[in-house]
Amino acid sequence: MNPSDVKATLSFSDGSPSMDLPIFKGSVGPDVIDIRKLYGQTGKFTYDPGFLSTASCNSKITYIDGDKGELLYRGYPIEQLAVGCDYLETCYLLLKGELPNVSQKEEFTKLVTNHTMVNEQMQFFLRGFRRDAHPMAIMTGLVGGMSAFYHDSTDINNPEHREIAAIRLIGKMPTLVAMAYKYSVGQPFIYPKNDLSYAGNFMRMMFATPCEEYVPNDVLVRAMDRIFILHADHEQNASTSTVRLCGSSGTNPFAAIAAGVACLWGPAHGGANEAALTMLEDVQKMGGVEKIGEFIKQVKDKNSNVKLMGFGHRVYKNYDPRAKLMRETCHEVLSALGQNNDPILKLAMALEKIALEDEYFVSRKLYPNVDFYSGIVQRAMGIPVSLFTAIFALARTVGWIAQLNEMISDPEYKIGRPRQLFNGAAARTVRPINER
Ligand code: ACO
Repeated sequence: MNPSDVKATLSFSDGSPSMDLPIFKGSVGPDVIDIRKLYGQTGKFTYDPGFLSTASCNSKITYIDGDKGELLYRGYPIEQLAVGCDYLETCYLLLKGELPNVSQKEEFTKLVTNHTMVNEQMQFFLRGFRRDAHPMAIMTGLVGGMSAFYHDSTDINNPEHREIAAIRLIGKMPTLVAMAYKYSVGQPFIYPKNDLSYAGNFMRMMFATPCEEYVPNDVLVRAMDRIFILHADHEQNASTSTVRLCGSSGTNPFAAIAAGVACLWGPAHGGANEAALTMLEDVQKMGGVEKIGEFIKQVKDKNSNVKLMGFGHRVYKNYDPRAKLMRETCHEVLSALGQNNDPILKLAMALEKIALEDEYFVSRKLYPNVDFYSGIVQRAMGIPVSLFTAIFALARTVGWIAQLNEMISDPEYKIGRPRQLFNGAAARTVRPINER
């Protein structure tokens, strides 16, 4: 870490001695005040629910400037990666820090595709779920269950185990998501086909059947690959922080990633694309574009509990750069499928236009996030709404692993253990039950 010449001084109005706190500079972005010795020296904690002002780690992987609407993976802008690279190149970059050259890419692709099949027993584990189980419930179970199948890659402190667990997770996630889908529709599982691209293979496992081969549509495969790239990592968001915290206890990588899957499921996080599309469909049922005014009124009413899903972001206080790319993909996909006049797309665009001009959204810096358009794209591809978050989890797996491995390799890493401001009862005596 790079120390700054400037120090922060914390003083107290009750005359307790003040304390100098070191400041560290990042390569870009805000400096951080190092409070590690605060408790030892003052007996006080800091209070920051939701971690609005807390850097929980130092990292070299992903940088976001929320005010500018900038997202960089290892220094490369997302706009350039989405256009100039594919998902596996992006995975290599996130895991290893540099983009691969031709032979490195070939070797990495071979390694990942050698791990696309899952242990045959996993299908029996999957068959234990109800057919109508939510795919994220299944994914949480299956990813956690991988630790029971791949015993030779469960030691988080062993770099070789971490490496092979990373490749297994990236290779097998598409297979597991497709299996969860096939199970829900009562179709046979389709085994991976390793001469296809990562995204192409996933789409074939989703949509082929033993009686009908899937002919990949290049536009759709490219769109799926872009969805994967845009969701590959996003700094210390809720699910990534969950993976880091869970992994900090030394648990195995599959268990830590399963914790990330569980966290991602929530509607304020990965579940937002599902929630955004459901919202658009509800507004469409209410009367579509005509009813936008009424709907926006509900959103602005604090007592209604209605939110404009796919809008707003904890970090972006500007247009989410991924949303711009997803909007472009949305138009490409709908045009390739001859669905340019899709009423849900028209509704989304009208809603976006109105919200971007409305004082409520402008003053709160609420802009569309990636989820606003990704649901429309996936729906057009024939992906059921309930699977959207599982596809997000598939794409985010590499980010979770890169962040987990970065943490474990950091000599300063410790088990995560936040503290609290306790406001409950102080010590008291238990009285016998008949005296209470
Ligand atoms: N619709 C209406 N009002 C909103 C929305 C929204 N989508 N998002 C925030 N606001 C309002 C809040 O009510 C609050 O208003 P107030 O100041 O009058 O009380 C203000 O904007 C600030 O909102 P916070 O909740 O404090 O912002 P925070 O940064 O904590 O929340 C969050 C970010 C959770 C993403 C929120 O914007 C939200 O719930 N959005 C909808 C869900 C969504 O799309 N999530 C996807 C996130 S991106 C991802 O996971 C890939």
